[in-house]
Amino acid sequence: MTSMPLPTPAHITLVQTSWQRCQPIIDTAANLFYDRLFTLDPSLRSLFPAEMGEQKKKLMTMISAAVAGLNDLNALVPVVQKLGRRHVAYKVEARHYPVVGQALLDTLATGLGPAFTPEVKEAWTVVYGVLADTMISAASTP
Ligand code: HEM
Repeated sequence: MTSMPLPTPAHITLVQTSWQRCQPIIDTAANLFYDRLFTLDPSLRSLFPAEMGEQKKKLMTMISAAVAGLNDLNALVPVVQKLGRRHVAYKVEARHYPVVGQALLDTLATGLGPAFTPEVKEAWTVVYGVLADTMISAASTP
């Protein structure tokens, strides 16, 4: 897809430094994220396992890997494409991606407080958009 702007070096730095700031509260952030997601769309709960402990760790690890990988998008893209294809088996559809992005932004807003500036919000919006776009496109190609 061509509509999505690529993250600039400034976006990448803002996402990486703000994600660093979240690390001391990462377990709280994971709880906040899923609470927020299932409040925004309770129907998504049934896609996930009853026991969410492992899922929370996997999501945070993947976000950390993606955030670190932003400096080398050529290496990151195939990893994210494979992740997108695995999500088809999890019954995830393209229409689910915006609400997950909203839950992520809301979690960052809560976790970062005043450090969640408009610039940080914009940077995460662009970065999530690129990741989601890459996953969605890959989901419909072998
Ligand atoms: C940038 C976006 C996303 C990232 C980085 C992400 C990351 C992950 C990771 C790392 C896993 C662990 C399993 C694996 O690696 O295959 C996973 C599983 C899963 N994700 Fe996502 N995901 C994203 C978007 C979504 C969306 C939009 C949904 C829709 C609700 C979703 C629902 C799920 C479900 C249902 C599972 C499987 C849980 C299970 O059965 O264990 N994810 N995701």
